[in-house]
Amino acid sequence: MRKAEYFSKDFEWEDLRAQVENDPSFSYHLLPFEPTSFSLNSVATDQSRSSAADGSHAWNSFHHRHSSGKFFKERRYLLEEFPELVNWKGNSKVLEVGCGNGSTVLPILRGNENIVVYACDCSTEALDRVKETIDASNIAAVEHHFHPFCCDFSVTTFPTWLACNPCRENFTQTSQQRLTGLYDMTMLRFEEDKRVQFREYMRSDGTRSYFFCLDTVRDLFVGAGFKQLELEYCCVKSVNRRKGKSMQRVWVHGKFQKPV
Ligand SMILES: C[S@@+](CC[C@H](N)C(=O)[O-])C[C@H]1O[C@@H](n2cnc3c(N)ncnc32)[C@H](O)[C@@H]1O
Repeated sequence: MRKAEYFSKDFEWEDLRAQVENDPSFSYHLLPFEPTSFSLNSVATDQSRSSAADGSHAWNSFHHRHSSGKFFKERRYLLEEFPELVNWKGNSKVLEVGCGNGSTVLPILRGNENIVVYACDCSTEALDRVKETIDASNIAAVEHHFHPFCCDFSVTTFPTWLACNPCRENFTQTSQQRLTGLYDMTMLRFEEDKRVQFREYMRSDGTRSYFFCLDTVRDLFVGAGFKQLELEYCCVKSVNRRKGKSMQRVWVHGKFQKPV
């Protein structure tokens, strides 16, 4: 298998920020959130649909529509981005929140036979997809290394059963994330009426995207008692060959650790 090429600094995030913040056509992305009369409809709809069950329903429909397998993109670059996923020896557990169809789970399971992956998603449809992906992978004894479960993280906290009582004293919680970052091209493509909160947008199918800045991620994790190890924007330029368009993707790369 060809080794994944990994790029993280194709352009400077500060240059992108200056470009976006000085372009009047993007100004609505920067404003404090005030529903417009048009978006009030979406927000009203949104509020009536804002229960966790409705969020899961939207994601369920999304996974149903994208069940062909073409949508699956194995994220092998994650092993380059988080080399400890390959290097961890013995007794390591990974919890993936929002595992989708398994794009992230599969390279982790392939990359390190010592890791046990617990993968959750709020969508039962996604869980069916991830099980199909892993079943088809031919990874030896994968049933001992892969435990999918249904869970909506917006209503549930970290599952304490992940660390059994005897292990808890030596249990180090490390959180690694690759989140969509502020001014990612998918954020700039959202029209004004798709805003449902500050930096949060809703697609026409009811699924939502939030775009993180470094301060928000830092505040969340440091506020929860984690120590920051790494936190930066990854800025990746990719080209859509079919359309001949260059795309500027922004991700937040973060690593935090909870002291034992
Ligand atoms: C953008 S997809 C990412 C999927 C996968 N991690 C990947 O990298 O391809 C987001 C996933 O999170 C799930 N999700 C959204 N909100 C969730 C929640 N509150 N709790 C658990 N999963 C959630 C969705 O069903 C979806 O599969």
